[in-house]
Parts: sequence; structure tokens; C-alpha cells
Amino acid sequence: MTRVSRGPIVILTGAGISKESGLETFRDSDGIWAKVRVDDVATPEAFARNPAHVHEFYNMRRRRLQAGDIEPNAAHRALVELEAQWPDPVLLVTQNVDDLHERAGHQRLIHMHGELLKARCAFCGDVQAWHDDLSVALSCRHCCRSGGLRPHVVWFGEMPLEMETIFAALSECRLFVSIGTSGTVYPAAGFVSLAASHGVETVELNLEPSAGASLFGESIQGEASVIVPAFVQRLLAGLWAGASAPLASRAMGARGN
Ligand code: APR
Ligand code: ZN
Repeated sequence: MTRVSRGPIVILTGAGISKESGLETFRDSDGIWAKVRVDDVATPEAFARNPAHVHEFYNMRRRRLQAGDIEPNAAHRALVELEAQWPDPVLLVTQNVDDLHERAGHQRLIHMHGELLKARCAFCGDVQAWHDDLSVALSCRHCCRSGGLRPHVVWFGEMPLEMETIFAALSECRLFVSIGTSGTVYPAAGFVSLAASHGVETVELNLEPSAGASLFGESIQGEASVIVPAFVQRLLAGLWAGASAPLASRAMGARGN
């Protein structure tokens, strides 16, 4: 057991960290994919087939995010404190397209699945801040052409953003922390294996064990607004001792001895 008191940290977050702020997750029983089909709203083919329907899906989520009652929670704020007080770089990689990490004050952040409050132009590729409803009738603020604006969100079948930066950070960090994700969507679901293959300490914080829980050195269950601040305080106090072997191999070791 080695205490982790310094070294770069990479954090991955998913929809679970924003649940207590009032935003839906995807795969909980009351989640988004229980109400809408992925193939109807979250693929390039869906957008080509019915752009108005896809725009309406993201317009509703963009309006909800800006409704005024959606605020960062204690988990978002704890990660900002970690970034501010940890002696080495902390890279936050989020799968979320909401802006709650920014609004909490996080500085070094990668939105690997894009951002709800930005639009991308299919003609000139420009990415621009966009807080209003989007539609095919609107024109790009950069090239002035209409009919090409889409949400700046990575759809299924598309390549997530800044993957080279993320892979490099995962192979060079001291600790990888996964928070509020079901561990079912790649490449994010594979980050823990990549980190562990480089001898990185790994820990997951989630309401329930994720699909990849056994791949982590430690798996902590609970609501993000409770377990994330507690974990950050332990880290900053130098009290978190990594469990170097993944849970599964330790379990096997137990059976083997
Ligand atoms: N605190 C901590 N974890 C929570 C909480 C909470 N309050 N509420 C739910 N969770 C957990 C759930 O148990 C689940 O494991 O958060 C996880 C959310 O999983 P998903 O809904 O699958 O969301 P996510 O993992 O972010 O999805 C990944 O899939 O649909 C695509 O692009 C989309 O970025 C998304 C990606
Ligand atoms: Zn354009």
C-alpha cells in the first residue's frame, strides 16, 4: 500500500456527477436512453435523416441546462479544490456535455464528447458558443452559410475529442479517478485498463459498481456529492493509500492462496 501524496492525476467524469445537480443520466432506469432511442438522436445518420428531430432533442437539453435551477454540486466543487491544492497537474476529462465543471471553476478540462453550449458548422468546421435553439435554418456566424449547423456533440460512431492528449496523460499520471460513469462506452471505458497497464493507481467513485469496477484498485460506492468531497479530503491530507493491484486480481489472489 503506497500513499499517494503527489504526481499528476487524471480524472474522468460521467453523467452521474451531474445527477444531483438535476441533470438526467443516460442508463439509469429514469435516464435519457429510457425515453429516447440513441439511433434517433445521437448518430450522424439520425441527423442526416431528420435534423429537425435531432436539433429538438439537443435544444430541450440546452434549455434545461440553462433553466436557472441547475447548479454545480459539491462533487464538482471538490474537484476544483483538488485542482487548486494538488502539487502536480490535475487533468479533468469529462464525458459530459454540460458546463457544470466550468461553472464550478475548473480550469484544465477536456470535453471528450463535446459541449451542449457550442455549435459546429459542417461547412467551415468552426466551433462557436451557442446558447439558443439550433435549427437547419440558422446560418454560421463564421462563414454565414445556413443549413450546416449541428450541436458540437460527439455522436456514436464519431471519434471523441483530444484522444491523444488523454492517452498521453493516462500513461504518465500517478492516479486515475473515474467518477459517475457506467463504464460501458468506449474509449472512456478503456481508460482504467490503459492506466493500470502503466502501473497507475486507479479508483472509481460511483453510485454502484460500474461495468469495469473489478479493473480498479479501489471502488467506492455512494452519491457523488458525498463520496467525492470525502475522497478529495483524504487525498489532500495524504491519507489515501492506493491499492496497487486491481480488485479482480486481488480477489483471485485471495482464492489462490
Ligand atoms: N452519484 C454517483 N454516481 C451516480 C449518481 C450519483 N448521484 N447517480 C447515478 N450515478 C451513476 C450510475 O450508477 C451510472 O453508473 O452514474 C453512472 C451514469 O452512467 P450513464 O448513464 O451510462 O452515463 P455515462 O457513463 O456518463 O455515459 C457515457 O454514453 O450515451 C453516451 O455520450 C453519452 O457521455 C455519455 C456516455
Ligand atoms: Zn461555417
